[in-house]
Amino acid sequence: MNARPVEIVYDVKSLRARLAAWRGAGETIGLVPTMGALHAGHISLVKEAKRHAGKIVLSIFVNPTQFAPSEDFAAYPRSLDADAAKFAAAQGDLVFAPTAMEMYPAGFATMLSMGGPAAAGLEDRFRPQHFSGVATVVAKLFNQCQPDAAVFGEKDYQQLKVVTRMAHDLDFAIKIIGAATVREPDGLALSSRNIYLTAAERAVAPSLHTALARCATDIRQGVAIDAATGAARTALAAAGFAVDYVEARHAETLAPVASRDEGPLRLLAAAKLGKTRLIDNIAV
Ligand code: PAJ
Repeated sequence: MNARPVEIVYDVKSLRARLAAWRGAGETIGLVPTMGALHAGHISLVKEAKRHAGKIVLSIFVNPTQFAPSEDFAAYPRSLDADAAKFAAAQGDLVFAPTAMEMYPAGFATMLSMGGPAAAGLEDRFRPQHFSGVATVVAKLFNQCQPDAAVFGEKDYQQLKVVTRMAHDLDFAIKIIGAATVREPDGLALSSRNIYLTAAERAVAPSLHTALARCATDIRQGVAIDAATGAARTALAAAGFAVDYVEARHAETLAPVASRDEGPLRLLAAAKLGKTRLIDNIAV
């Protein structure tokens, strides 16, 4: 019943024409960058964007430069029509779904290289080119849309800090907004990759959030950081995860911390269940 059609544009020229008309009418623009396969977490970003801008653009682009050759770029779920319908139901205004040729035409030769939060020794340790690809495509999207505000999920906490740093360093006059992680009732953070989990893995997956919540409580109650994160690693391994990392970091810089007094702290973790790699994080 509420199937309000949403316009989809596939190239930068059409995007700019539509945005120029809105700006001419005095509208502000909010951007929500995604790779599609929308779930309630993405929709929460759209709702947040509507609190900061009048017209909301959702970008859908499975960005090849942020995937390693061994990762799931080819298999990544793609569902443009369903995504557009969900975005329309959330009162979004325009979908920008560029092709790979539109974003990376022949001869493309520029990639951003970042230190700081992009070199914190978390995701970057396991996905060395990842944040170069993310920062490059997000900078392109920022230039293409020139939004007043852009919303990113805390689910990808290091990514949020990388994008915030990049926008500041490159003088983008865009308000970067972080939105809370949306979870299943059992605590598992919503992710497009959760569909890869077998039934048995899905049953174990919420332990990642449970272990982080327990670890945060321990640290708040005075347990030493190394002991608390060590216990979380042990609990996850016992539950069947192959742990990449569980770390307490400074919540803004992502720098290592020796004690709780160096806070505010954020706990960040990545662990594999079978072939599926899950990431999560929580405030201490
Ligand atoms: P994607 O994984 O599609 O995520 C798009 C946005 O949704 C990101 O900001 C992510 O943090 C947020 N998100 C994902 N799951 C969430 C959840 N459970 N709760 C709240 N927000 C959630 O992240 C990317 O795409 C790409 O790296 C991108 C930024 C689009 C650049 O290619």
